[in-house]
Amino acid sequence: MRTQVGIVGAGPAGLLLSHMLHLRGIESVILESRSRAAIEATIRAGVLEQGTVDLMTEIGAGERMKREGFVHHGFEIRFQNRSHRINLHDLANGRTITVYAQHEVLKDLIELRLATGGQILFEARAEGLEDVTSDRPRIRFTTKEGAAEELICDFVAGCDGSYGVCRKAIPEGTVRQDYFRTYPAGWFGILAKAPPSSHELIYTHHERGFALISTRSPNVQRMYFQCDPNDKVANWSDDRIWAELHARVSGDGFRLKEGEIFQKNIVPLRSFVAEPMQHGRLFLAGDAAHSVPPTGAKGLNLAAADAHVLARAIGAYYSANATDLLEAYTATALRRVWRGQWFSWYMTQLLHRFPDAGAFDLKRQLAELELVTSSRAAATMIAENYVGLPLS
Ligand code: PHB
Repeated sequence: MRTQVGIVGAGPAGLLLSHMLHLRGIESVILESRSRAAIEATIRAGVLEQGTVDLMTEIGAGERMKREGFVHHGFEIRFQNRSHRINLHDLANGRTITVYAQHEVLKDLIELRLATGGQILFEARAEGLEDVTSDRPRIRFTTKEGAAEELICDFVAGCDGSYGVCRKAIPEGTVRQDYFRTYPAGWFGILAKAPPSSHELIYTHHERGFALISTRSPNVQRMYFQCDPNDKVANWSDDRIWAELHARVSGDGFRLKEGEIFQKNIVPLRSFVAEPMQHGRLFLAGDAAHSVPPTGAKGLNLAAADAHVLARAIGAYYSANATDLLEAYTATALRRVWRGQWFSWYMTQLLHRFPDAGAFDLKRQLAELELVTSSRAAATMIAENYVGLPLS
């Protein structure tokens, strides 16, 4: 098999890249190890930055998002049982965020890609990359039927997530350096059939730990609370979950609305960046190169931005034989990635109670929470980073 751009992974980065290349007349093939049904059912985060919304709209993938997504003009930071609003629209020059689940984004992109002649090979597992520093890199893969195949390309885009094979094709130590941090906490996430408890997201700092009240639709709510990262879903009955959430977020007239819990999962909190994001003709995008803790919901948005930068660079190569944007890919992408890393870390350390934190840390956190909810300058810093940098 032969194509111009071989893409490993049909997540946000791979699908967006494939479609943006298509709009530039460039052919790609996506290899995806999972089934379409599995991808479309996997629950992830749900906050789209303004730039991601604009990108989806511009490439013709924004119709359902515009109809079914929810535009939020602000969010709340809650501590000592009181909520304080961060007015995104006001503080960030009219920019907002849209709540629309990641798997809905994927459904829309898969449908669009298939309707425009895109090739996505589901249940095709990439085994390894060959000759990425030559001008004919190859992806070895196993088809759905179990046959060993190769995809020969001009470029390989590694969009295969944190545990994919692509990053490993950049030699560690000599070429690649990994930057890594884990946090002594995880997020316990639930989906519940309940009406919204709030019009806007509530990020809560509490002595028992962080909690987040988010939403999916008027009938389905997404909520999280900080837990031990090694805890097990089976340890948490519905009653225990509601008691914990109420303990962290209720008070001062606010009361969480309960409903039937139909999904539970535990998400680890970690920060990771691999540098460089390019090696020869291999380009990493999204979680293959970096992951963030979910506080601030940057993961999908960083993946979309990488795809945008990479599509433009590959486009310039085919249309004008220009390699400057390709050579600048790592530097261009990393500026946003490290900003996202910093903001995700910042929100994480501001809002969580870690087991090794002392009395000083709690007092310092409360002073900082006071600051960001009372100083317009400090709130503006949060708002600008939350809505995200424009995709220039
Ligand atoms: C979500 O709705 O899943 C969500 C929202 C905000 C975050 C993380 C996750 O910071």
